[in-house]
Amino acid sequence: MEAAIRFDQFNALADDEARERIVAARQRLGDRLVILCHHYQRADVYRHADLTGDSLKLSRLAAQSDAEFIVFCGVHFMAEVADILSKPEQISILPDLAAGCSMADMANLAKVGRAWRELDAVLGGVESKVTPVTYINSAADLKAFCGEHGGIVCTSSNATAILEWAFARREKVLFFPDQHLGRWSGHKMGIPLEEMVVWNPDLVNGGLSDDEIRRARILLWAGHCSVHQMFQPGHIEKWRKEHPDGFVISHPETSFEVCLHSDYVGSTEYIIKTIKAAPANTRWLVGTELNLVSRLAEEVRAEGKIVQFMSPMVCMCSFMGRIDPQHLAWCLENLAEGKVVNRISVPPHEARLARLALDRMLAVS
Ligand code: 13P
Ligand code: SF4
Repeated sequence: MEAAIRFDQFNALADDEARERIVAARQRLGDRLVILCHHYQRADVYRHADLTGDSLKLSRLAAQSDAEFIVFCGVHFMAEVADILSKPEQISILPDLAAGCSMADMANLAKVGRAWRELDAVLGGVESKVTPVTYINSAADLKAFCGEHGGIVCTSSNATAILEWAFARREKVLFFPDQHLGRWSGHKMGIPLEEMVVWNPDLVNGGLSDDEIRRARILLWAGHCSVHQMFQPGHIEKWRKEHPDGFVISHPETSFEVCLHSDYVGSTEYIIKTIKAAPANTRWLVGTELNLVSRLAEEVRAEGKIVQFMSPMVCMCSFMGRIDPQHLAWCLENLAEGKVVNRISVPPHEARLARLALDRMLAVS
């Protein structure tokens, strides 16, 4: 069989040419192809999306698709979820394999396995006392860990409902890898801050005393998103002084204090829907990634809505930004030539257990 076309033939393509080649390759592939795009994708990729969404919506769309090829313009864990939830004969593709997620990398199976054993040593019978809950921003083997140990996956749009599911079964939750989403969701359930402790995976017993572990209801993994930690409560305070009638909306990956100072907190899809549904001539400060905020500002400008970015610094997700028109053109032309590049394939044993945890989530939300 002929070898795949190499990426170095696409690297230097001008954006306009890459765009034309994407359009041409799509035409050749027809409905054999679906392009799913996360809201953080850059404009010159987002314009090629068949379907867009937040992590939860995209998971559902991947599960419902009948296309032979699911090209995922997002990050690695999203393409893994598409592979796990789609049919075995469908092929999930990530245009650039370097599109990871630094938060997802903050937890791994060795460290979570060690935490589980340490919790067992302190609590005794960890399997009946602690539910492992992983944010969807995590590798497939961590989702499989949750599937195997009676746990579940959550996303930014269902985390509180998922915690309720977890607490209906066991008295404690080990939540990884995003401490901020875990803390905000626990707070929304009414759990006091002192009953949510941070588990430092680089220290023995997470750096906690036996007593702190016994008293905790949620053990929050010390992970975070480097993009969302750039937003500060001070940005909100300053903006509110200048715009007392404005509204503040943030993603739950921002810190607890930013969430607390915001009028609305929710997933990327929620942020878009809320601002689109808002009355004309309203003003918004948004705490999430810049590509989404710039696009949204453009889309609602005609209604007199003003949408502003929360940080004075540029906060883009460099991982999402790895997907560019050149990589998209490269993988689509290969597909049109009958060659699959950058396939994301989760090993069957891991996929089966990860699916268990994902299916539990989809049944709850
Ligand atoms: P959403 O599920 O809200 O789209 O968030 C995914 C993400 O990675 C945000 O940083
Ligand atoms: Fe990961 Fe943060 Fe990028 Fe989302 S914005 S994909 S959490 S690094």
